[in-house]
Amino acid sequence: MSEQQIRRAVCPGSYDPVTLGHVDVLVRAARLYDEVVVAVLHNPAKQGTFAVEERIGFVERSLPEDVRQRVRVEAFAGRLLVDVCRDVGADAIVKGLRSATDFAYELPMALMNRHLTGVETVFLPGAPELEHVSSSLVKEVSRFGGDLTGLVPDEVRDALVALRATP
Ligand code: PNS
Repeated sequence: MSEQQIRRAVCPGSYDPVTLGHVDVLVRAARLYDEVVVAVLHNPAKQGTFAVEERIGFVERSLPEDVRQRVRVEAFAGRLLVDVCRDVGADAIVKGLRSATDFAYELPMALMNRHLTGVETVFLPGAPELEHVSSSLVKEVSRFGGDLTGLVPDEVRDALVALRATP
């Protein structure tokens, strides 16, 4: 397939850390597009829970083998998403939508991104059984010793549990 024929999507986010909700959306995006670029967007001035390299590794290792071959995970710091899309040659942005609250947050960004360069955003409905799962809630549950089963990949669960030991 020539470069021009390849259909490529960008799945942006903080992924701090990746959840099973993210994994569901990435796998489904990879069914719809030839290639998926997972753009781990971060603010260099802000310290996240996990280092960007750790976040990337967690995403890569969370994907099934057949999907992983067509997904590339890259970090982008202090960049507009539309510039990332242009640089990687993306046809669309793909995002998961869990709820009406997500939609209210995502719609202005989708419209702004289209205003800036014309790039479209494709929304995939999140898996209903993962509607309550977000990186921030998972971290809170972990901080207070809650059970993380079914919320994040096993490796991420272990990393979050290990973090409880640090002050
Ligand atoms: O995982 P998150 O925190 O919901 O991801 C939000 C993210 C990083 C995708 C969004 O904040 C973003 O696109 N940031 C890049 C900067 C940018 O392009 N801002 C203008 C969006 S209209």
